[in-house]
Amino acid sequence: MSSLAVKYRPRTFEEHVGQEPIVKALRNALRLKRISSAYLFAGPRGVGKTTTARIFAKGLNCEASDDITDRPCGECRACRDIEMGRHPDVIEIDAASNRGIDEIRAIRESVKYLPSRGRKKVYIIDEAHMLTMEAFNALLKTLEEPPEHVVFILATTDPHRIPPTILSRLQKYEFRPISPFDIIRRLQFIARQEGIEVEDRALHEIARRSEGSLRDAISMLEQVWVFSGNSVTYEDVLKFVGGIDPDVLGRLITHIRKGESFEALAILDELLTRGVSPQDFVRELGNYLNDLLRAVLEGRRSDITREHILMYMNNVLKMEEVVRWSQTPRLWVEYYITRMSLLPSTVDLTEIARKYNLTHAPPGKERKMPRQPSPPVEERKEERREDDLAILLASRIRKAPVAGTVRESRVLVEGKKLIIKTRSEALRKFLEEEKEELISAYKELALPVEEVVIEVQKSHPGLLRLIDELELRELGRGEAGGD
Ligand SMILES: Nc1ncnc2c1ncn2[C@@H]1O[C@H](COP(=O)(O)OP(=O)(O)OP(=O)(O)O)[C@@H](O)[C@H]1O
Ligand SMILES: [Mg+2]
Ligand SMILES: [Zn+2]
Repeated sequence: MSSLAVKYRPRTFEEHVGQEPIVKALRNALRLKRISSAYLFAGPRGVGKTTTARIFAKGLNCEASDDITDRPCGECRACRDIEMGRHPDVIEIDAASNRGIDEIRAIRESVKYLPSRGRKKVYIIDEAHMLTMEAFNALLKTLEEPPEHVVFILATTDPHRIPPTILSRLQKYEFRPISPFDIIRRLQFIARQEGIEVEDRALHEIARRSEGSLRDAISMLEQVWVFSGNSVTYEDVLKFVGGIDPDVLGRLITHIRKGESFEALAILDELLTRGVSPQDFVRELGNYLNDLLRAVLEGRRSDITREHILMYMNNVLKMEEVVRWSQTPRLWVEYYITRMSLLPSTVDLTEIARKYNLTHAPPGKERKMPRQPSPPVEERKEERREDDLAILLASRIRKAPVAGTVRESRVLVEGKKLIIKTRSEALRKFLEEEKEELISAYKELALPVEEVVIEVQKSHPGLLRLIDELELRELGRGEAGGD
């Protein structure tokens, strides 16, 4: 019994979904017989790397054609053997389980011999980033002088872990996540073939949750199918993944905003009774709020402020922590939902945020999405300059644990002084040691820097901290004495 994902693995380029630029380039190469000796297929999981490598190998060795072809048939003995992994000239190696130098040595031995049946010997090295350093070194020797009849295809989800010496010898193809549109079309096709009836909304939900991995999408469809029979509904998908209908979460948030804790808890209760776990609930609520925040920032919604959403997200973050270790997660989820609905719904958080200088909007005027006039050219130049400086700084200290703090720092040049304004004491300490380095780096940029000045600025409360304080204050107000 094979899974749907295996059953519907494309056998030819025509069946392939998405990745058009890659397919086009590879087919051109086959048609013009301009074959490199080594390729890199990089990209996220389940988007067709292994599939494409096999079809390419078929193009090189298909027996239905007199020569290399961009239309491998998928049917002949060679094509079928490649598909089954038993073609003597197409060797698939899973580097995750064979990390070793022995395998690569064996390859180095065998590349010397001509292909036994086909036109080219193809080595597909899956999960190539898992090879050991020694194995890479051995591979490098082969890549340096590849025999005419050999083609290597390295597939990986993590190209950064492949040494640069190897990378520079590979022709690279970056596989992209498959678009929801293509995923849905492929799922529809498979469902039709299998006689599964699937609601459109269910397909959308699967596509959304598979995040561009067609394999994940197909296996999700298969699992929901097994679990719910021949007709698959949106509800089935939600139930299977522990998902929650956004409409329900929308109602929950509305009750919370109105301070209706009783109603909010009733919704939570119903969800938990229906089998949604506290973990699922927290994850779904977090995603929902994230989408909501985006909608507000993009001006698609205006019935809730971003400060409120941030405040709720702050609570979700805490829920997430507590749910992870608590023996009584349900209790805590209820606690936080209650707490959220007791939070200020009338206090104007925007006003407070403004007071603490946490928003760019000038007092009295709401910042509406429609364009602000762009700054005069002079000013923009200055900004760009600052950007460049900061980027250079960031690139210098990429590896340090303080790298993240650079983004929140400002870098300016005044005369021969390079001034770095930061809130991070850790960054200051780090930079103190790197001053000489920095000066020479900026000199390369034709900046006559002779001195580096690092100013640590006192930080104002971050929005989240502010919200925390505010929450406590408001909660305290309701209780006698408070905490
Ligand atoms: N581009 C695609 N077109 C059609 N089906 C695809 C595509 N990508 C993935 N699939 C489906 O997903 C399954 C897995 O694809 P494949 O093994 O090629 O992914 P991969 O990119 O090599 O993933 P991994 O990194 O996990 O090895 C295939 O059997 C096929 O059913
Ligand atoms: Mg693969
Ligand atoms: Zn063939």
